[in-house]
Amino acid sequence: MQYSGTVKWASPSNIALVKYWGKHGRQLPRNGSISLTLKECISETSITYRIDSAQQGMEVDFTFEGKQNPAFSNRIEKYLTSIQDHLPWLRNAKLNIESQNSFPHSSGIASSASAMSAIAMCLVDIKRTIEDTIEIDTELSSNLARLGSGSAARSVIPLIGQWGACDLEGSSDDHAIAYGEFVDPIFHNYHDDICIVSAAEKSVSSTAGHGLMDKSVFAQARYTQANNRLYAITSAMKTADLDQFISIVEDEALTLHGLMLCSEPSFVLLEPNTIKIIEAIRTYRKESKIPVCFTLDAGPNIHMLYPAAYAKDIADWRDTIIKPFCHNGRIIKDEVGYGPNKLH
Ligand code: PMV
Repeated sequence: MQYSGTVKWASPSNIALVKYWGKHGRQLPRNGSISLTLKECISETSITYRIDSAQQGMEVDFTFEGKQNPAFSNRIEKYLTSIQDHLPWLRNAKLNIESQNSFPHSSGIASSASAMSAIAMCLVDIKRTIEDTIEIDTELSSNLARLGSGSAARSVIPLIGQWGACDLEGSSDDHAIAYGEFVDPIFHNYHDDICIVSAAEKSVSSTAGHGLMDKSVFAQARYTQANNRLYAITSAMKTADLDQFISIVEDEALTLHGLMLCSEPSFVLLEPNTIKIIEAIRTYRKESKIPVCFTLDAGPNIHMLYPAAYAKDIADWRDTIIKPFCHNGRIIKDEVGYGPNKLH
């Protein structure tokens, strides 16, 4: 049998509210996590494929933003080899993969979630063509995205993705589930202004970061805390209890960095301006009573989260107080979105 064609998908990044930090086995999480799927920070990936049972072995050519990138290429090839049990036709495939991000590579925004989920969507789309089925299998795309980068499992889910087996119905370590329908609609277009404190890619590599938890004396307490918080945050999101939501989201960000600060080796990813923005957000929230809060990834950039209804109120304060703390005044204005899109 022979198949050939091109598929193209755009897939977003996501920002975790309760963080995944610590893994085991084949990319399985030590605790459950939940995130907002973003809209603007996306990877666009196309795969031109030729599958021919006469071809022995897989051949991959990967370009990122129009250029060969040996580091990425290596990672993608290893990944594709690792999922051949799920997609046996990869063993006889010639793939030309081209990927690019909507956000600059040097913005300090982690791109593995959007990049790996976009590749997973393309692969599941090819599978659909081969099997001549209509629907995209979201569970499989999430599972395959997870095998590329844990947090990518949540990026294929519209609005709000929950990943990791916990007390929530349908939750699984293998794939993320959609949680948007169970929360107040205020979260369906929540804003995330990403304040670029540093454009340098100053983040702990995923493997190193998760590995720190294996030796942490806080590991068990942390996993229990995260699972309890997953329950607490989903309850707060159901009733739009923003005080409770903010308290969990901010503490999750600080806990993630706290764990890195006191790990062996220790990582200090917070920059002086990260702390200044945190203080400015807290002061503004207290004075204005506007429910704006922050979260962080494994890096120095602040994700400033607030309900869409406050976008106008916040704009002046953000541009006068927060912007000067950002690298070249850079803030990426993002919000919750609907997940991957097929491109033509
Ligand atoms: O998907 P990974 O392996 O790069 O890990 C992501 C970890 C955090 O971004 C820090 C937290 C999360 O849940 O996204």
